[in-house]
Amino acid sequence: MTKRVAVIGAGPSGLAQLRAFQSAQQADSEIPEIVCFEKQSNWGGLWNYTWRTGLDQYGEPVHGSMYRYLWSNGPKEGLEFADYSFEEHFGKPIASYPPRAVLFDYIEGRVKKAGVRDWIRFNTAVRQVSFDQSSGQFDVTVNDLPEGKQYTEQFDNVIVASGHFSTPNVPEFKGFDLFPGRILHAHDFRDAAEFKDKNILIIGTSYSAEDIGSQCWKYGCKSVTVSHRTAAMGYDWPDNWEEVPLLTQVDGNTATFKDGTSKEIDAIILCTGYLHYFPFMAEDLRLETNNRLYPGNLYNGVVWEDNPKLMYLGMQDQWYTFNMFDAQAWYARDVIMGRLELPSKADMRADTLHWQAQEDAIADDYESITYQGDYTLRLMAMTDYPEFDITGANNAFFEWKKHKKAGIMTFRDHGYKSALTGTQAPAHHTPWKDALDDSLDVYLQN
Ligand SMILES: Cc1cc2nc3c(=O)[nH]c(=O)nc-3n(C[C@H](O)[C@H](O)[C@H](O)COP(=O)(O)OP(=O)(O)OC[C@H]3O[C@@H](n4cnc5c(N)ncnc54)[C@H](O)[C@@H]3O)c2cc1C
Ligand SMILES: NC(=O)c1ccc[n+]([C@@H]2O[C@H](COP(=O)([O-])OP(=O)(O)OC[C@H]3O[C@@H](n4cnc5c(N)ncnc54)[C@H](OP(=O)(O)O)[C@@H]3O)[C@@H](O)[C@H]2O)c1
Repeated sequence: MTKRVAVIGAGPSGLAQLRAFQSAQQADSEIPEIVCFEKQSNWGGLWNYTWRTGLDQYGEPVHGSMYRYLWSNGPKEGLEFADYSFEEHFGKPIASYPPRAVLFDYIEGRVKKAGVRDWIRFNTAVRQVSFDQSSGQFDVTVNDLPEGKQYTEQFDNVIVASGHFSTPNVPEFKGFDLFPGRILHAHDFRDAAEFKDKNILIIGTSYSAEDIGSQCWKYGCKSVTVSHRTAAMGYDWPDNWEEVPLLTQVDGNTATFKDGTSKEIDAIILCTGYLHYFPFMAEDLRLETNNRLYPGNLYNGVVWEDNPKLMYLGMQDQWYTFNMFDAQAWYARDVIMGRLELPSKADMRADTLHWQAQEDAIADDYESITYQGDYTLRLMAMTDYPEFDITGANNAFFEWKKHKKAGIMTFRDHGYKSALTGTQAPAHHTPWKDALDDSLDVYLQN
């Protein structure tokens, strides 16, 4: 087989793709040549922590949006790789909400075992992808950042796994230009200790807002005010935490909200989400979508309907993550290797519209979790990705939702059952709110 496949990005999605091809190779199948381009110097995507913000040493936009002291916001039982359990990696059961460094170690463990690091060209940013109708191949232009050298190679397939939580969505509010304190987007947030003793204003009500506010609370900020556009989060927050309507303007340190109330604040953190942004894709190949469970133009959430030689991984809003990326990667592999046939373009489009209509009818988060679990299951059933108990994983998410409702600062003290091994996770040795050291060594002490 002489096919060449380009994978853009070596985060969890790109690495899932490498592992998918490697597992076929291990089972004695002849696989295409795989070249993965990764602009960072290491793998792991967002889980590869960087202190940098803004531009990196080469003038590239920094990809990292993760911060110090970040712990998983959902139970690890919902993201466990079906071919590599936490117990296999750590040699013992561990608690359910691992900090970033622990999850990085787990992600790395599987691909180290698979031996695919040589397939990755690190420090190499993809600049342009276009399709040449005459050759039927993609021209992929990349930049070797340390060498400052640009070159183009041809590929039969391209798999975009460059993530979608790195280009910040940054609204502006009246008075920002004269605000005397710091204004930043969650993408540039790195260390909650910076906001110790400060009154912080957060805009947004999703996971970044909830978690960055909680971090700042844990590490000693004076107060947290969260401003919502649509609805308040409604958790039972600590006493120095308040939810208010949308910000209308700031005047000096005074922030005024839609209901006419105002507060004195020292810093503003915009937790206003991210944009799907692929400037390196030719316009006719570029995914344009908001953050949703079933983006348009992607058959089975993966295959670019207008040109099925192109695939996108991990472009959905995410309850499920690592194991969903795996299910997608195994599916993409089997389409590329000719093991699975695709229907006509019209049928692919009709199928996507069907699932989008189902998504539009979802009433709450529980249905949303089930919807994404079912999607993952449908993909898994098409390949030899080891099937795991999706109902069990859904249940871990349902329990998580209930634990959050019962105590937003204590939900991470709970443990869940692995859908793979059936093992019940032990409670962590220290309650989350008191665990200030989130290093791997300290976390694994239990
Ligand atoms: C703050 C934050 C916290 C999160 N916490 C959790 C959590 O607790 N649990 C969970 O399951 N999920 C969490 N997520 C969701 C996260 O999206 C996934 O866990 C996962 O990282 C997505 O993997 P990915 O490979 O699709 O994208 P990414 O992890 O973003 O990786 C994409 C890779 O592509 C590379 N790349 C991008 N552009 C180019 C280019 N032009 N050329 C070459 N390489 C390129 C990047 O450098 C990066 O390595 C979190 C996300 C954020 C933002
Ligand atoms: N510890 C962790 O594991 C952790 C921590 C942080 C983030 N994450 C992950 O990061 C990903 C992204 O989460 P996110 O919270 O950054 O983004 P998100 O889920 O897309 O939410 C964006 C938020 O911004 C608000 N918003 C957007 N534009 C706005 C505007 N102009 N004015 C006011 N509000 C606006 C939205 O409000 P509306 O509801 O009104 O639209 C929404 O509340 C998720 O996958 C999450 O799981 C994980």
